Amino acid sequence: METLHKPVLLNEVLKNLLTQAEGIYLDLTFGRGGHSKAILEKLNKSGKLFAFDKDHEAVEMAVKELGYDKRFQIFHNTFSDLEKIISSLDLKGKITGILLDLGVSSPQLDNASRGFSFNKDGVLDMRMDQRQTLKANTWINTVSESILLDVLKKFGEERFAKRIAHHIVNARRKNPIHTTKELAKIVAEAHPAWEEGQHPATKTFQAIRIFINKELDELNTCLGQASNVLAPGGRLVVISFHSLEDRIVKRFISKNSVGEVLPKEIPLSHAPGFTPTLKKVGKLIRPNHMEVKMNPRSRSAVMRVAEKIR
Ligand SMILES: C[S@@+](CC[C@H](N)C(=O)[O-])C[C@H]1O[C@@H](n2cnc3c(N)ncnc32)[C@H](O)[C@@H]1O
Repeated sequence: METLHKPVLLNEVLKNLLTQAEGIYLDLTFGRGGHSKAILEKLNKSGKLFAFDKDHEAVEMAVKELGYDKRFQIFHNTFSDLEKIISSLDLKGKITGILLDLGVSSPQLDNASRGFSFNKDGVLDMRMDQRQTLKANTWINTVSESILLDVLKKFGEERFAKRIAHHIVNARRKNPIHTTKELAKIVAEAHPAWEEGQHPATKTFQAIRIFINKELDELNTCLGQASNVLAPGGRLVVISFHSLEDRIVKRFISKNSVGEVLPKEIPLSHAPGFTPTLKKVGKLIRPNHMEVKMNPRSRSAVMRVAEKIR
């Protein structure tokens, strides 16, 4: 049986996202629909919810569980196709709220055959979108040591990236790496010290996953498009799970609400000619102690909210 995905920060999402029961909403990361189902419960019969996911298992689940609801439609697309799809529906500038709950879902992590987890032995795959040709095992066996080092540093913020990259390249010369457990073992052998409670391969797996799925590029593209499709007063709610994602979201909101930060010597609050398009709403939101206890996956979640002003 598939593992359940518990929606993270559910009450906070509903409170910050939903401003009109008859609004048009986007859930850009359907997953197993935890947030989508709760949003639909709050909408009236004129409300609409369009969802996206690039994983066909998520899309199948959406059709199976919510296909009956005329207010709901799922797109098997990446969220960086957002503006194209919303424009084709003639809804650009008319969206009431957008949710992004980034990263992988629990079923993706827990299904060994998806190859995302160092805890489950399976082919090292890591593709969120099964239509993509490049799998993590092909990449790890062919990438140059210097690119591997860059990826581990940039997307894993791994202190011991150099050692690990070197060890992987040596190990694959003897035997190509095919499975999650093989890679986890190689990384564990190379790693001199890791954070308490973490697996030594945590950062390496994070880095490879982000690279294979182009997660940060897609997030950057999507945020600009999200702002373009929102109606004035529309809300953007983003849940991130690591500092690389959150930094992008934080900078995006800040750049569009207060502009580029000016050097201290310039006595202006905004760059000349800057017109804000977003307003920051509230402070950073994190799950409370109770939620983390009930759903340990939520422990690193942080949520930011912005409102479109023009
Ligand atoms: C954390 S889960 C979302 C869970 C969901 N909120 C729920 O309650 O069930 C993230 C989902 O976003 C999808 N995803 C990640 N990046 C995506 C992208 N660029 N485009 C579309 N879907 C993406 C993943 O496939 C995954 O199913």
